[in-house]
Amino acid sequence: MSRADDSPLLTATDGAVSYSAGQLRAMRDEFQRFVIEYQFGLREVETKISILRDEFLQMHEYNPIEHVSSRVKTPDGIVEKVSRKGIDPDFASIRAHITDIAGVRVTCAFVNDAYRLFDLLTQQDDLTLRVVKDYIAQPKPNGYKSLHAIFEVPVFLSSGRVDVPVEVQFRTIAMDFWASLEHKIYYKYDSQVPSTLLAELKSAADTASELDARMERLHRELRGGSSAHAVTV
Ligand code: GTP
Ligand code: MG
Repeated sequence: MSRADDSPLLTATDGAVSYSAGQLRAMRDEFQRFVIEYQFGLREVETKISILRDEFLQMHEYNPIEHVSSRVKTPDGIVEKVSRKGIDPDFASIRAHITDIAGVRVTCAFVNDAYRLFDLLTQQDDLTLRVVKDYIAQPKPNGYKSLHAIFEVPVFLSSGRVDVPVEVQFRTIAMDFWASLEHKIYYKYDSQVPSTLLAELKSAADTASELDARMERLHRELRGGSSAHAVTV
């Protein structure tokens, strides 16, 4: 037995909204079209980062990147953020207000490399830097450190150009170690973390920062002293 596309799939018996199979398919297609732009934007930024990494290795025999991970926010993650931030639940508002649907995390051995990669991406003239949050220079009160940047990258589709926001987080291995543990603790305690644990976390963040500073000093000595960085934004 076949079902016509616009015949009702769900019947409203209690005032609930009902959709036909055709409507559901249209919604799915629209969502897939929405998300795919972010997947393409992510790919563009990932390529840029891997080109920088390969060039550094080739030309300077040095790898400024320890690890890169990326993700497109899940539908659940998008819905959670829409309700948490009170955003209108339509694609235009979501596009305008949620800028971390595509996200890349670049983990470096040294703070200096995190800033250097940020600078190199910022200088690329097809990337537009929209927002910077420098939680390395100004850590969050809980001790969280990372450099966050929202870049807009052009993606060329058959229908034309779209500029896609991609959030890039630059951090060191020590910052990443701390952030992933802190995240797990928050999750385990459902955000109600005991104050002694919060104090321990803050102290661990300070220890991680000291380690970063020491490792960077040692590394600078090893490489002969050229390690100044500048963040201009
Ligand atoms: P979100 O709504 O969570 O995206 O926060 P936001 O829009 O205010 O942006 P912000 O730049 O402050 O944080 C964005 C992302 O950075 C988060 O989704 C996390 O991945 C990470 N982050 C920010 N603060 C913390 C923190 O205190 N702990 C950990 N573990 N991660 C954090
Ligand atoms: Mg986020």
